Amino acid sequence: MASKERSMPKHVGLIMDGNGRWAKARMLPRVMGHNAGTKTLKRIALKASDMGITNLTVYAFSTENWKRSEEEVSGIFKLLVKFVNSELQELKDKNVHVNILGDRDKLPDYVCESLDKLVGETSHCDGMNFNIALNYGGRAELVRSVKAICEDVKAGRIDADDIDEELISSHLYTGEKNIPDADLIIRTSGEERLSNFLVWQASYSELMFTDTLWPDFSNEEFEDMIFRYMGRERRFGGRNEEDK
Ligand code: IPE
Ligand code: IPE
Ligand code: MG
Repeated sequence: MASKERSMPKHVGLIMDGNGRWAKARMLPRVMGHNAGTKTLKRIALKASDMGITNLTVYAFSTENWKRSEEEVSGIFKLLVKFVNSELQELKDKNVHVNILGDRDKLPDYVCESLDKLVGETSHCDGMNFNIALNYGGRAELVRSVKAICEDVKAGRIDADDIDEELISSHLYTGEKNIPDADLIIRTSGEERLSNFLVWQASYSELMFTDTLWPDFSNEEFEDMIFRYMGRERRFGGRNEEDK
């Protein structure tokens, strides 16, 4: 199993952090940081697609982000709808297929309508999977998976003995959309934690952190991280070929 990774990551996760600090440094309201962040998001998504990355998952709003002020939360949602309206055509032109990962139930109706449009109008695209984690939490995703499996057991569709890693994976948002485990997770802004992002799918992910705040994250730095990933050795608990 051990291999010096030479191929592109099949799935890159991005924890887009630091918008608030970016705004604070400029004495701007936090929402202006999020506004700058959406520009970076567009740029990096198109760069990833150009590089031939097959799955890009971006953490846009966590299940814990509801703890923020109403003003900030609604500001983030409004920016998301603005992003959909302004970028949908270009995403389609680039053959990008959008998926939403997360619980829609608590999202305002106007956000859900916009997401339906984004997902619906890119459903025929078979280029990069651009997965937006919105009202997403890795633990909530696992709870949802376990509940669905329990229902299947209760209804006699499966036996409890059939429960294995593959079955749990297949009931996650990612598994339902055939998105593989994350090969590489990048977090900006100097924080070095997952903050409930892709908890199950990150078991063997390579992790990379940078002090750069998300609005300042450049295409060059992104590309450099992908190349660094390609030079890393992934062992998955096995041994190095040379050491065998
Ligand atoms: C990340 O930026 C975006 C979201 C969590 C929605 P932050 O808003 O967390 O920025 P900092 O961490 O306060 O700088
Ligand atoms: C993680 O960032 C969530 C997103 C980037 C959407 P946070 O800023 O919410 O994470 P913590 O609170 O620093 O762990
Ligand atoms: Mg943050």
